[in-house]
Amino acid sequence: MTALSQTALLVELEPVVEKNLDRHLSMAKEWFPHEYVPWSEGRTFDGPLGGEAWSASDSTIPEVARTALIVNLLTEDNLPSYHHQIATLFGPDGAWGTWVGRWTAEEGRHGTAIRDYLTVTRAVDPVALERARMVHMTAGYSNSHDDSMLRSLAYVSFQELATRISHRNTGRVTGDPACEALLARVAADENLHMVFYRNLLAAALELDPSQTMRAIAEVLADFQMPGVGIEGFARKSVTIALAGIYDLRQHRDEVVVPVLRQWDVFNVSGLDADGEAARDEIAAHLDTLETHAARFEEKRDARAARLAAARA
Ligand SMILES: [Fe+2]
Ligand SMILES: [Fe+2]
Repeated sequence: MTALSQTALLVELEPVVEKNLDRHLSMAKEWFPHEYVPWSEGRTFDGPLGGEAWSASDSTIPEVARTALIVNLLTEDNLPSYHHQIATLFGPDGAWGTWVGRWTAEEGRHGTAIRDYLTVTRAVDPVALERARMVHMTAGYSNSHDDSMLRSLAYVSFQELATRISHRNTGRVTGDPACEALLARVAADENLHMVFYRNLLAAALELDPSQTMRAIAEVLADFQMPGVGIEGFARKSVTIALAGIYDLRQHRDEVVVPVLRQWDVFNVSGLDADGEAARDEIAAHLDTLETHAARFEEKRDARAARLAAARA
């Protein structure tokens, strides 16, 4: 069987998009970002209105939570780039077009809500945040999957779940129940997005198992979070991993493995030689991730022990 073209995939998957769009709309609960922001805690800032400048002591949330919130928000801020990517791939028509619009509208409230919360509670330096946003959005975002429907669908299946976990765990480390509730709400959106894309890719696995298996293998081989272009991302992501907000163990066990299990990749039949090879690569990748995750956990434990000993 020859691989289906991009256009054939769009056409063949359209009924699946329609069904899952209906499912999404029936599951998604309406919610309002303004209800999650403690407005009465807000104070006017310096500048044209002559209020008080931001100071690090304005908020008691831990430094690592501030770092994670900034990474999560800047990631959400790059929505125009993500919209461009999926609008180009999926097109404006029919159920595909409706999904692109609806998804964009839902993602749009994430950045709005998190920025409002951070500004009102003075949790992060608003000047540094705005400068980082300018740099990050000016650079924009793209990945190596822009030209492939299947790789893009595989990427977002993992990425939406990764984002869900990152938001949820960030909320937990803030120690602020209001922030936790907001990020739990955002995480619930990300989960529904993940389910939508995961169901679509499951249908693709039936339509064209070998090409889809190859796409999954390629996406996993070089998976990077969408915030990768943020200034100082490497350092920030180590901080985030050390705090257990998003680390390799979670990436493997809470993102990659559950999604692969839902697709039942190790029992997919009808693969050609390259499809089989791709599946072997996925299995090998899981082993590599296991090794790296275990090594990271060991290092983190040793570091925690050293820090504890130094305090004693
Ligand atoms: Fe989002
Ligand atoms: Fe999302």
